Amino acid sequence: MENSATILQTPALQAFIACAENGWRQGWHERNGGNMSYRMAAEEVAACGDALDTTGDWIPLGVDAPNLGGETFIVTGTNRYFQNILPLPEENIGIAQLNAVGDAYRIVWGLTVGHKPTSEFPTHILNHSVRFAATQGRSRVIYHAHPVDVIALTFVLPISARDFSRALWQAMTECVVIFPEGVGVVPWMVCGGAEIALVTAKEMERFAAVIWAQHGIFCAGDDFDATFGMMHAIDKAARIILKVMATGQPVLQTITDDNLRAIGKAFGFQINGDFLD
Ligand code: 13P
Ligand code: ZN
Repeated sequence: MENSATILQTPALQAFIACAENGWRQGWHERNGGNMSYRMAAEEVAACGDALDTTGDWIPLGVDAPNLGGETFIVTGTNRYFQNILPLPEENIGIAQLNAVGDAYRIVWGLTVGHKPTSEFPTHILNHSVRFAATQGRSRVIYHAHPVDVIALTFVLPISARDFSRALWQAMTECVVIFPEGVGVVPWMVCGGAEIALVTAKEMERFAAVIWAQHGIFCAGDDFDATFGMMHAIDKAARIILKVMATGQPVLQTITDDNLRAIGKAFGFQINGDFLD
Protein backbone atom coordinates (compact mmCIF):
# COMPACT_ATOMS: atom_id res chain seq x y z
CA MET A 1 0.00 0.00 0.00
CA GLU A 2 1.37 3.39 -1.02
CA ASN A 3 0.89 6.54 1.03
CA SER A 4 1.56 10.24 0.63
CA ALA A 5 5.13 9.97 1.85
CA THR A 6 6.01 7.23 -0.64
CA ILE A 7 4.43 9.20 -3.50
CA LEU A 8 6.85 12.00 -2.70
CA GLN A 9 9.79 9.62 -3.08
CA THR A 10 8.88 8.61 -6.65
CA PRO A 11 11.28 9.90 -9.34
CA ALA A 12 8.57 12.01 -11.06
CA LEU A 13 7.70 13.92 -7.88
CA GLN A 14 11.36 14.28 -6.93
CA ALA A 15 12.24 15.69 -10.37
CA PHE A 16 9.28 18.10 -10.26
CA ILE A 17 10.30 19.40 -6.82
CA ALA A 18 13.97 19.75 -7.85
CA CYS A 19 13.03 21.75 -10.96
CA ALA A 20 10.77 24.07 -8.94
CA GLU A 21 13.58 24.67 -6.43
CA ASN A 22 16.01 25.46 -9.26
CA GLY A 23 13.55 28.01 -10.65
CA TRP A 24 13.20 29.60 -7.23
CA ARG A 25 17.01 29.85 -6.95
CA GLN A 26 17.13 31.62 -10.33
CA GLY A 27 14.91 34.40 -8.95
CA TRP A 28 12.11 33.61 -11.40
CA HIS A 29 9.37 33.21 -8.78
CA GLU A 30 8.56 36.24 -6.66
CA ARG A 31 5.67 35.58 -4.29
CA ASN A 32 3.35 33.08 -6.05
CA GLY A 33 4.71 33.99 -9.50
CA GLY A 34 5.00 31.16 -12.00
CA ASN A 35 3.59 27.65 -12.14
CA MET A 36 4.47 24.24 -13.54
CA SER A 37 2.80 21.03 -14.66
CA TYR A 38 4.04 17.59 -15.69
CA ARG A 39 2.07 14.95 -17.60
CA MET A 40 2.83 11.68 -15.83
CA ALA A 41 3.64 8.45 -17.67
CA ALA A 42 1.25 5.54 -17.02
CA GLU A 43 3.91 3.69 -14.99
CA GLU A 44 4.51 6.81 -12.85
CA VAL A 45 0.80 6.97 -12.06
CA ALA A 46 0.82 3.23 -11.31
CA ALA A 47 3.75 3.75 -8.92
CA CYS A 48 1.46 5.93 -6.77
CA GLY A 49 -0.71 2.86 -6.22
CA ASP A 50 -3.87 3.29 -4.17
CA ALA A 51 -2.63 6.46 -2.48
CA LEU A 52 -4.44 8.49 -5.15
CA ASP A 53 -7.92 9.48 -3.96
CA THR A 54 -10.24 9.29 -6.97
CA THR A 55 -13.43 10.19 -5.09
CA GLY A 56 -13.23 13.98 -5.59
CA ASP A 57 -15.67 16.01 -7.68
CA TRP A 58 -14.93 16.86 -11.31
CA ILE A 59 -14.23 20.57 -11.74
CA PRO A 60 -14.69 22.16 -15.21
CA LEU A 61 -11.42 23.32 -16.80
CA GLY A 62 -13.02 25.97 -19.00
CA VAL A 63 -11.15 24.54 -22.01
CA ASP A 64 -11.25 21.23 -23.90
CA ALA A 65 -8.28 18.91 -24.40
CA PRO A 66 -9.83 15.73 -25.82
CA ASN A 67 -6.43 14.23 -26.73
CA LEU A 68 -5.49 14.34 -23.01
CA GLY A 69 -8.60 12.59 -21.67
CA GLY A 70 -7.69 10.47 -18.62
CA GLU A 71 -4.16 11.89 -18.34
CA THR A 72 -2.66 12.68 -14.92
CA PHE A 73 -0.63 15.79 -14.07
CA ILE A 74 1.56 16.98 -11.25
CA VAL A 75 0.78 20.68 -10.88
CA THR A 76 1.61 23.65 -8.65
CA GLY A 77 -1.18 25.21 -6.58
CA THR A 78 -2.67 28.62 -7.12
CA ASN A 79 -1.29 31.34 -4.88
CA ARG A 80 1.38 28.96 -3.57
CA TYR A 81 5.05 30.00 -3.48
CA PHE A 82 7.83 28.13 -5.36
CA GLN A 83 10.16 28.71 -2.41
CA ASN A 84 7.88 26.51 -0.28
CA ILE A 85 7.61 23.55 -2.67
CA LEU A 86 10.80 21.81 -1.51
CA PRO A 87 10.15 22.18 2.24
CA LEU A 88 6.36 21.61 2.06
CA PRO A 89 5.55 19.76 -1.17
CA GLU A 90 2.18 18.32 -0.20
CA GLU A 91 0.74 21.75 0.60
CA ASN A 92 2.01 23.43 -2.54
CA ILE A 93 1.78 20.89 -5.35
CA GLY A 94 -0.77 18.24 -6.22
CA ILE A 95 -1.76 15.55 -8.68
CA ALA A 96 -4.79 16.22 -10.90
CA GLN A 97 -6.53 13.80 -13.25
CA LEU A 98 -8.52 14.80 -16.33
CA ASN A 99 -11.85 13.17 -17.12
CA ALA A 100 -12.24 10.97 -20.19
CA VAL A 101 -13.17 13.85 -22.52
CA GLY A 102 -10.53 16.26 -21.20
CA ASP A 103 -12.76 19.12 -20.06
CA ALA A 104 -12.70 18.70 -16.26
CA TYR A 105 -10.22 17.65 -13.55
CA ARG A 106 -10.19 16.31 -10.02
CA ILE A 107 -7.43 16.51 -7.41
CA VAL A 108 -6.26 13.01 -6.44
CA TRP A 109 -3.33 13.92 -4.18
CA GLY A 110 -1.70 16.92 -2.46
CA LEU A 111 -2.69 20.61 -2.59
CA THR A 112 -3.64 20.22 1.05
CA VAL A 113 -3.69 24.03 1.38
CA GLY A 114 -5.70 26.04 -1.17
CA HIS A 115 -6.95 22.85 -2.84
CA LYS A 116 -6.76 24.35 -6.33
CA PRO A 117 -4.27 24.05 -9.18
CA THR A 118 -2.65 27.16 -10.64
CA SER A 119 -4.96 29.79 -12.13
CA GLU A 120 -3.06 29.14 -15.38
CA PHE A 121 -4.18 25.49 -15.46
CA PRO A 122 -6.28 26.14 -18.63
CA THR A 123 -3.15 27.46 -20.39
CA HIS A 124 -1.10 24.53 -19.10
CA ILE A 125 -3.62 21.95 -20.31
CA LEU A 126 -4.09 23.52 -23.75
CA ASN A 127 -0.31 23.86 -24.11
CA HIS A 128 0.11 20.19 -23.14
CA SER A 129 -2.54 19.32 -25.70
CA VAL A 130 -0.87 21.09 -28.64
CA ARG A 131 2.68 20.07 -27.64
CA PHE A 132 1.50 16.43 -27.28
CA ALA A 133 0.27 16.63 -30.88
CA ALA A 134 3.38 18.51 -32.11
CA THR A 135 5.82 15.98 -30.57
CA GLN A 136 3.94 12.69 -31.04
CA GLY A 137 3.41 12.51 -27.28
CA ARG A 138 7.00 13.18 -26.15
CA SER A 139 6.35 16.58 -24.56
CA ARG A 140 5.53 16.30 -20.84
CA VAL A 141 6.52 19.54 -19.05
CA ILE A 142 4.93 23.01 -19.19
CA TYR A 143 6.74 25.62 -17.11
CA HIS A 144 5.72 29.25 -16.57
CA ALA A 145 8.10 31.73 -14.90
CA HIS A 146 8.63 35.48 -14.49
CA PRO A 147 12.31 36.07 -15.44
CA VAL A 148 13.17 39.76 -15.06
CA ASP A 149 15.16 40.19 -18.26
CA VAL A 150 12.66 38.41 -20.49
CA ILE A 151 9.92 40.66 -19.14
CA ALA A 152 12.11 43.76 -19.58
CA LEU A 153 12.69 42.83 -23.22
CA THR A 154 8.94 43.00 -23.89
CA PHE A 155 9.09 46.77 -23.29
CA VAL A 156 11.66 47.47 -25.98
CA LEU A 157 11.25 44.90 -28.78
CA PRO A 158 8.26 44.82 -31.18
CA ILE A 159 5.75 42.20 -30.01
CA SER A 160 6.38 39.75 -32.83
CA ALA A 161 7.70 36.20 -32.94
CA ARG A 162 10.09 37.18 -35.72
CA ASP A 163 11.64 40.12 -33.86
CA PHE A 164 12.05 38.20 -30.59
CA SER A 165 13.37 35.06 -32.27
CA ARG A 166 15.96 36.94 -34.31
CA ALA A 167 17.12 39.04 -31.35
CA LEU A 168 17.49 35.96 -29.12
CA TRP A 169 19.27 33.92 -31.84
CA GLN A 170 21.70 36.79 -32.40
CA ALA A 171 22.42 37.22 -28.68
CA MET A 172 24.11 33.88 -28.08
CA THR A 173 25.34 31.24 -30.54
CA GLU A 174 23.63 28.26 -28.87
CA CYS A 175 20.15 29.83 -28.97
CA VAL A 176 19.34 28.76 -32.50
CA VAL A 177 20.44 25.22 -31.61
CA ILE A 178 18.10 25.16 -28.59
CA PHE A 179 15.04 26.71 -30.30
CA PRO A 180 15.55 26.60 -34.11
CA GLU A 181 11.83 27.15 -34.64
CA GLY A 182 12.04 30.46 -32.71
CA VAL A 183 9.83 31.73 -29.89
CA GLY A 184 6.24 32.97 -29.89
CA VAL A 185 5.07 36.21 -28.30
CA VAL A 186 1.64 37.08 -26.91
CA PRO A 187 0.75 40.77 -26.44
CA TRP A 188 -0.35 41.91 -23.00
CA MET A 189 -3.58 40.18 -21.98
CA VAL A 190 -5.46 39.45 -18.76
CA CYS A 191 -3.87 36.29 -17.38
CA GLY A 192 -5.42 33.30 -15.65
CA GLY A 193 -8.25 32.17 -17.90
CA ALA A 194 -9.40 30.51 -21.08
CA GLU A 195 -8.83 33.50 -23.38
CA ILE A 196 -5.06 33.77 -22.84
CA ALA A 197 -4.92 29.95 -22.86
CA LEU A 198 -6.33 29.80 -26.39
CA VAL A 199 -4.00 32.52 -27.73
CA THR A 200 -0.95 30.93 -26.08
CA ALA A 201 -1.77 27.42 -27.27
CA LYS A 202 -2.09 28.70 -30.84
CA GLU A 203 1.54 29.96 -30.56
CA MET A 204 2.63 26.69 -28.92
CA GLU A 205 1.57 24.78 -32.04
CA ARG A 206 4.71 26.25 -33.65
CA PHE A 207 6.97 27.20 -30.73
CA ALA A 208 8.11 25.38 -27.58
CA ALA A 209 8.58 28.76 -25.86
CA VAL A 210 6.04 31.59 -25.74
CA ILE A 211 6.70 34.97 -24.12
CA TRP A 212 3.86 36.90 -22.47
CA ALA A 213 4.41 40.67 -22.78
CA GLN A 214 4.97 42.41 -19.43
CA HIS A 215 4.41 39.09 -17.67
CA GLY A 216 6.79 36.17 -18.28
CA ILE A 217 7.29 33.07 -20.38
CA PHE A 218 5.95 29.55 -20.94
CA CYS A 219 8.33 26.77 -21.98
CA ALA A 220 7.45 23.22 -23.03
CA GLY A 221 9.74 20.21 -23.15
CA ASP A 222 10.07 16.45 -23.05
CA ASP A 223 11.62 16.50 -19.57
CA PHE A 224 12.50 18.91 -16.76
CA ASP A 225 16.11 19.44 -17.88
CA ALA A 226 15.14 20.37 -21.44
CA THR A 227 12.34 22.67 -20.31
CA PHE A 228 14.35 24.39 -17.59
CA GLY A 229 17.32 24.64 -19.95
CA MET A 230 15.21 26.40 -22.59
CA MET A 231 13.97 28.91 -20.02
CA HIS A 232 17.50 29.44 -18.72
CA ALA A 233 18.94 30.02 -22.22
CA ILE A 234 16.20 32.49 -23.20
CA ASP A 235 16.60 34.39 -19.93
CA LYS A 236 20.36 34.60 -20.41
CA ALA A 237 20.05 35.74 -24.03
CA ALA A 238 17.52 38.40 -22.96
CA ARG A 239 20.06 39.63 -20.39
CA ILE A 240 22.75 39.89 -23.08
CA ILE A 241 20.45 41.90 -25.38
CA LEU A 242 19.64 44.33 -22.56
CA LYS A 243 23.30 44.67 -21.55
CA VAL A 244 24.28 45.48 -25.13
CA MET A 245 21.46 48.05 -25.36
CA ALA A 246 22.50 49.54 -22.01
CA THR A 247 26.01 50.29 -23.31
CA GLY A 248 24.42 52.83 -25.65
CA GLN A 249 27.06 51.85 -28.22
CA PRO A 250 26.24 50.98 -31.84
CA VAL A 251 26.31 47.23 -32.55
CA LEU A 252 29.44 46.68 -34.65
CA GLN A 253 29.02 42.94 -35.22
CA THR A 254 26.42 40.27 -34.54
CA ILE A 255 25.51 36.73 -35.64
CA THR A 256 24.39 37.12 -39.26
CA ASP A 257 21.67 35.15 -41.02
CA ASP A 258 24.36 33.32 -42.96
CA ASN A 259 26.05 32.47 -39.64
CA LEU A 260 22.71 31.07 -38.39
CA ARG A 261 22.30 28.99 -41.57
CA ALA A 262 25.86 27.70 -41.12
CA ILE A 263 25.06 26.52 -37.57
CA GLY A 264 21.97 24.71 -38.84
CA LYS A 265 24.05 23.01 -41.52
CA ALA A 266 26.89 22.08 -39.14
CA PHE A 267 24.53 20.70 -36.47
CA GLY A 268 22.10 19.18 -38.98
CA PHE A 269 18.82 20.90 -38.07
CA GLN A 270 16.25 23.02 -39.85
CA ILE A 271 15.98 26.70 -38.83
CA ASN A 272 12.64 28.46 -39.22
CA GLY A 273 13.27 30.08 -42.61
CA ASP A 274 10.42 32.59 -42.14
CA PHE A 275 12.60 34.36 -39.58
CA LEU A 276 15.72 34.61 -41.75
CA ASP A 277 16.34 37.36 -44.31
P1 13P B 1 -0.88 31.09 -9.69
O1 13P B 1 -0.51 31.41 -8.26
O2 13P B 1 -2.38 30.92 -9.83
O3 13P B 1 -0.11 29.93 -10.23
O4 13P B 1 -0.54 32.36 -10.57
C1 13P B 1 0.77 32.82 -10.68
C2 13P B 1 1.06 33.38 -12.01
O5 13P B 1 2.21 33.48 -12.38
C3 13P B 1 -0.06 33.83 -12.88
O6 13P B 1 0.35 34.02 -14.19
ZN1 ZN C 1 2.52 34.45 -14.32
